[in-house]
Amino acid sequence: MKKHTGDSYDQLAEKYADDQENKPWSTYFERPGILNFLPDLAHKDVLDAGCGPGFYTRYMVDQGAHVTAFDLNPFFVEHTKQRTEQRATIYQANLAEPLTFAADSSFDFIVCILVLHYLKDWQPTLAEFNRVLRPGGRLIFSTHHPFTDLEFAPNDDYFATTLIEDEWKIGKMRFYRRPLSQISQDLLQTGFIIEEIAEPQPIKPPDHVTFNSYERSLKKPMRLLVRAQKTTTGR
Ligand SMILES: C[S@@+](CC[C@H](N)C(=O)[O-])C[C@H]1O[C@@H](n2cnc3c(N)ncnc32)[C@H](O)[C@@H]1O
Repeated sequence: MKKHTGDSYDQLAEKYADDQENKPWSTYFERPGILNFLPDLAHKDVLDAGCGPGFYTRYMVDQGAHVTAFDLNPFFVEHTKQRTEQRATIYQANLAEPLTFAADSSFDFIVCILVLHYLKDWQPTLAEFNRVLRPGGRLIFSTHHPFTDLEFAPNDDYFATTLIEDEWKIGKMRFYRRPLSQISQDLLQTGFIIEEIAEPQPIKPPDHVTFNSYERSLKKPMRLLVRAQKTTTGR
């Protein structure tokens, strides 16, 4: 049985990397929301899980963090290696499988931006995150907001976990939508307590910039950001 839809990027990785780089969505919405949510990472051991083209990997390295990053997609792995100029440790690895490169209790933070919705069953991955985090370590992730993704759900059932197929400008994308209560329960069951949830809004672009989704992302919750702390055991 298929465990994830990460192969959505097989033909699209290069286009995705180019598209993300300077588009208003990244500059005035996605990145400010995440950067505002990240704590001080200087001198911390950080795992960037699903690093994509490596924007956050590079940012965290520049902040003085000791970063290990990985992605399923070989193009993204190479891109991130080049972007970080050998200042981070980068692997090709699958988030749906055990993270064999990572020892128990080896990270202070895991940063996982826009990746977990590609997993069908994410509990084994959350349990793996728990294993590799130090006691009191934190998982910081962002995902598509389950309220807004309901617009694309085939059955209009908020409480179901469903596969969504969406047509992005760069091509077709497949991912899963989970209700908020499921997100919370799964974190509790894998040994995390939620410390903070954020629903970022865009920053106002300068007048000369056309950002078509500004009004929409000002009024609708597009992203769910979560910071959760590892507790000693799940329940
Ligand atoms: C939307 S991109 C986000 C990339 C990066 N975190 C960022 O925010 O710029 C999603 C990433 O998740 C990765 N991904 C999806 N499924 C994965 C899996 N099973 N294992 C590892 N990476 C996966 C994709 O290859 C892609 O790089």
